[in-house]
Amino acid sequence: MPGENIAAENPAASAPSAATPSEPTRAARRAATAAEAPDPLYSFLFRRVFSRMDPEHAHHLVVRGLRLAESLGATRLLEKATRPAPELERHVLGRRWPSPFGLAAGFDKGAVAVLPLAALGFGHVEIGTVTAQAQSGNARPRLLRLLQDRALINRMGFNNDGAEVVRGRLDEVRHRIENLKSAGRHAPLVGVNIGKTKVVPLEDAVEDYLLSARRLAPVADYLVVNVSSPNTPGLRQLQDIEALRPLLEAVGREADSVARRHVPLLVKIAPDLADEDVDAVADLVADLGLDGVIATNTTISREGLRSSRQAVEKAGAGGLSGPVLAARSVEVLRRLRERLPEETTVISVGGVVSAEDVAQRLRHGADLVQGYSAFIYQGPLWVRRINRGLAAMAPECLRRETRRG
Ligand SMILES: Cc1cc2nc3c(=O)[nH]c(=O)nc-3n(C[C@H](O)[C@H](O)[C@H](O)COP(=O)(O)O)c2cc1C
Repeated sequence: MPGENIAAENPAASAPSAATPSEPTRAARRAATAAEAPDPLYSFLFRRVFSRMDPEHAHHLVVRGLRLAESLGATRLLEKATRPAPELERHVLGRRWPSPFGLAAGFDKGAVAVLPLAALGFGHVEIGTVTAQAQSGNARPRLLRLLQDRALINRMGFNNDGAEVVRGRLDEVRHRIENLKSAGRHAPLVGVNIGKTKVVPLEDAVEDYLLSARRLAPVADYLVVNVSSPNTPGLRQLQDIEALRPLLEAVGREADSVARRHVPLLVKIAPDLADEDVDAVADLVADLGLDGVIATNTTISREGLRSSRQAVEKAGAGGLSGPVLAARSVEVLRRLRERLPEETTVISVGGVVSAEDVAQRLRHGADLVQGYSAFIYQGPLWVRRINRGLAAMAPECLRRETRRG
């Protein structure tokens, strides 16, 4: 049923966790589960309304609803109920994060709803992917649901308004965030995820990313070089070390220079990289002294799904996200953590559904965690449930396991 605790009903949703002394106690698990009780109203709405609509249309409706709620002042009230507990605060990338849990890139590509989204309890919102030039993305339909798997397949193709327009919006958002901070209210961090404009040839990719970095680094709490979307032809070739090194070096230099401060820079990678390639990216990140890695983007694999073969084929090409991604996402996280210096930040994303999923990623060495697909299936109160679930856990359940052997 939509809105149910998927981790509990779907073993694929919770990837294998290592049994360690830092596992949550039964009482903490019970408290966390209680805080994650499904939201019957959204379950009903999802079943009766959203699931019968084109998913992209439903998405725009939700964004419009959030913006309307904001303009009516409702998010201010909402924030009182959703604000993350103070004990969830973290210090990562030289900044203070109100919660380790944030919204992954792709939901708010154009920074049109950052503050109403933050009012739901997200500690950070990663906007984008933004490209240097505005582009309309692929033909519709380009966002599809696999209901049985609580999964999504998307081939959006970086539809966005372009770096210049998004910069204008982020200037305004930044201004309002400063006001929220002065008023002692919940203020999110804003990550900016950049990608390559489709019509720009791969050999000119660096200059294209630089255009976006120039516009957007000054308004970013952190910047992400996205080289892992399956929906821009050739993009994932930029994950090859020979292509990635000059790209990351150039973007890092440019970002710091235009912003006149150090802008934390992370690279977002695909779950489909072979293990040796994950290691190679980790070594490059360590060698460059890059701030971190976001793992993972969506997958082109269709393994492990419960949906019928016809349903999967009918959905067509694109990146798959949701619980089916969890096991590989955890594997990549553990591999990165093994190989990267302690101080390098890892943001884990892929298949996170419950507070226990978030806690598991933190124990496996993630500094921050993000989600997207479960937000669609669980609704706006999902974030509050995650934060409450985390707050109900003992602090040691949310701490990185010390390395052994
Ligand atoms: C509809 C949709 C659009 C997405 N767009 C982007 C994007 O523009 N840039 C990006 O880096 N990731 C994008 N993603 C990937 C998510 O940020 C995330 O990495 C992925 O969905 C796995 O997390 P999840 O299983 O919690 O959804 C998108 C995902 C979805 C479902």
